[in-house]
Amino acid sequence: MAFFRSLSAVEAVPVLAGEGVTLRTPQMADYAAWSALREESRAFLQPWEPTWPPDDVSRLAFRKRLKRYVRELEADQAYPFFLFRPDGALVGGVTISQIRRGVSQTCSLGYWMGKRHAGHGHMTAALKIVSPFVFETLKLRRIEAACLPHNAASIRLLEKTGFRREGLAREYLCIDGRWQDHLLYALLRSDVVG
Ligand SMILES: CC(C)(COP(=O)(O)OP(=O)(O)OC[C@H]1O[C@@H](n2cnc3c(N)ncnc32)[C@H](O)[C@@H]1OP(=O)(O)O)[C@@H](O)C(=O)NCCC(=O)NCCS
Repeated sequence: MAFFRSLSAVEAVPVLAGEGVTLRTPQMADYAAWSALREESRAFLQPWEPTWPPDDVSRLAFRKRLKRYVRELEADQAYPFFLFRPDGALVGGVTISQIRRGVSQTCSLGYWMGKRHAGHGHMTAALKIVSPFVFETLKLRRIEAACLPHNAASIRLLEKTGFRREGLAREYLCIDGRWQDHLLYALLRSDVVG
């Protein structure tokens, strides 16, 4: 995107600020907080995520993760964010990925919270600031999200932030080691700006 060409891809991504949350691009300095939060939340997150590789929370794996993030940012394929409280605590993450330009202008949304920070409204606040970034800054027109039919928290989160259910996709993603059916949701630019 022209918007990002003059600066390094990572520097060009704005810090997004909302009601009691800030979203910014992950950095190596986040490793200690990120690995501690992911490790203590392992049992809470695993039923809803792809199986974690054995070294997933290692420093080396995090370094590789950041390199992939930079490559994807430079290619306008994905925009990863970590989610922080005003006191600076890392509480979760949001990723805009699988960006399809051309006749699609679509992306996929993923999110997670650390177990002890869930249920405090942080992800609701985060999605309220992510959607303007997607529609106004990235100029996409559709955000897709998929969740397991028994993920009550995710369904409530999506529906209260304006996403509409579009259907059920059979064996859509391999989550927790099994190909599982998913509910498909989407938020359109026209749902927000008319
Ligand atoms: C889904 C998730 C990101 C929601 O984040 P969060 O910060 O806890 O969400 P919020 O606090 O903003 O709550 C959003 C809504 O969901 C509701 N909710 C939260 N946890 C819930 C639960 N376990 N069951 C039912 N509803 C729940 C909240 O009450 C709120 O609705 P309300 O305002 O009507 O009360 C978080 O629960 C999580 O990380 N879960 C595990 C991983 C996961 O599911 N990832 C997504 C895969 S698609």
